[in-house]
Amino acid sequence: MLLARAGVASRREAERIIEAGEVTVNGRVVTELGARAVAGRDHVKVGGRLVSERLRPEYWLYHKPVGCVTTMRDPQKRFCVGDVILALGGHGLFPVGRLDFHTSGLLLLTNDGELAERLMHPRFHLEKTYLVKVSPAPSVEDIERLREGVRLRDGRRSAPAFVRRMRKGEVSGAGRAPNAVVGVDRRAARQAAARHTPARGAWIEVRLREGRNQQVRRMFEAVGSYVEKLSRAAIGPLGLGDLPGGDARRLLTVELANLCKAVGLTDRLGD
Ligand code: URA
Repeated sequence: MLLARAGVASRREAERIIEAGEVTVNGRVVTELGARAVAGRDHVKVGGRLVSERLRPEYWLYHKPVGCVTTMRDPQKRFCVGDVILALGGHGLFPVGRLDFHTSGLLLLTNDGELAERLMHPRFHLEKTYLVKVSPAPSVEDIERLREGVRLRDGRRSAPAFVRRMRKGEVSGAGRAPNAVVGVDRRAARQAAARHTPARGAWIEVRLREGRNQQVRRMFEAVGSYVEKLSRAAIGPLGLGDLPGGDARRLLTVELANLCKAVGLTDRLGD
């Protein structure tokens, strides 16, 4: 993982190098593919050459705007997270997980591979909170179905989730961030938007412990509503707060402590 992140090798090539016994972590040869190394803590060498020069671990909260691609590079030259990371000085940062092009909200940027892995791993069941503007508004029965789990287009069911309709005036900065009318099926989304005035839409809070591709959009699609705006407001205990769209800031110590605690990492603070 760290080798791939450091740009030393592709993931597959990194596995080959490890199995060949060419990698040491803190002076010890590692041959297990699952071996962990933490940027900022461990010395990793490949063929005797230092890979990670005790990179200081960094943790940034980024409010991804709509229209930003969650990749390090974009072949189509669109604005991407790699541009943001470059502006922050690089430091081996990468985004933890991804948000769709049309989704805004909280994206964590870090060079801490182990924390990232845990945050993304289903084993830790970390809850992600989304604020969703949908149209038409789902009925009480639809909301109950979303809570229990709905059959998605791929035939699989979504896991039980926390779903509630938000009250007027409850949506804060994150939800109001500029966004576009989008849906999984764009034509259907346009038709739905034409049929229903904005007043007939609703803001819904969704908290999920799974993160399948376009999951929120597909869940609402299953009950006949289309997502007009989608913003991630929190990852576990880490909230976006009132960070303006497009801005980034370092995590506060207490935020990092809470995040690490949520995934069972106790060695990050005081390193
Ligand atoms: N669910 C989606 O549909 N899109 C995202 O970007 C995140 C969650």
